[in-house]
Amino acid sequence: MTISYATEYQVSDLGETRQVAKEIAAVLLSRRSGVILFRGPLGAGKTTLVQSICRHLGIRDTVTSPTFDLLHQYVIEELTVFHIDGYRLSDPGEWEVLDLPSQDELGFIILAEWGSILQADYPDRLEVDVELTDLSGETRRIRLQGIGPFWSHQVREWEGVHARGI
Ligand SMILES: Nc1ncnc2c1ncn2[C@@H]1O[C@H](COP(=O)(O)OP(=O)(O)OP(=O)(O)O)[C@@H](O)[C@H]1O
Ligand SMILES: [Mg+2]
Repeated sequence: MTISYATEYQVSDLGETRQVAKEIAAVLLSRRSGVILFRGPLGAGKTTLVQSICRHLGIRDTVTSPTFDLLHQYVIEELTVFHIDGYRLSDPGEWEVLDLPSQDELGFIILAEWGSILQADYPDRLEVDVELTDLSGETRRIRLQGIGPFWSHQVREWEGVHARGI
């Protein structure tokens, strides 16, 4: 049996998206590891969220979408951050070439767009669904689902904090 817990945010502009990114980055920084899979239609805001997480992690380089390179790597204070765009990767063999660290290795963060194929390799992870709720504007729905002991607990914590209006 897998433990999982989900919560949802409605964000009305980029500023609110960045607020969600800041909370995620704070947890990644204190834990010094983590795997996050981003889902959502083209243009929903996955890269935007990753860029903001990276900024809050302290990465000063410009974070661009790895649409063609598939993987961008950043190093910050002994932490290696892998930003992946799996849109063009279809079979598992292509993913293996990326040579990603396994769940129990320390000091790495994986931020993967279109990365559902990684679910089997990382039983403890955060899954983020970004969805446009208003085609003409900036409104988005961001659903956070924590899977496995650490992230399900963390998502429950976030929900509690927001419910108390902190
Ligand atoms: N609230 C918001 N949150 C995130 N992005 C927003 C928001 N409002 C507007 N945007 C804009 O929406 C666009 C989202 O593009 P982005 O590249 O992040 O999407 P994506 O989901 O990564 O797409 P792809 O599937 O092609 O990788 C950006 O131009 C961003 O500025
Ligand atoms: Mg993208």
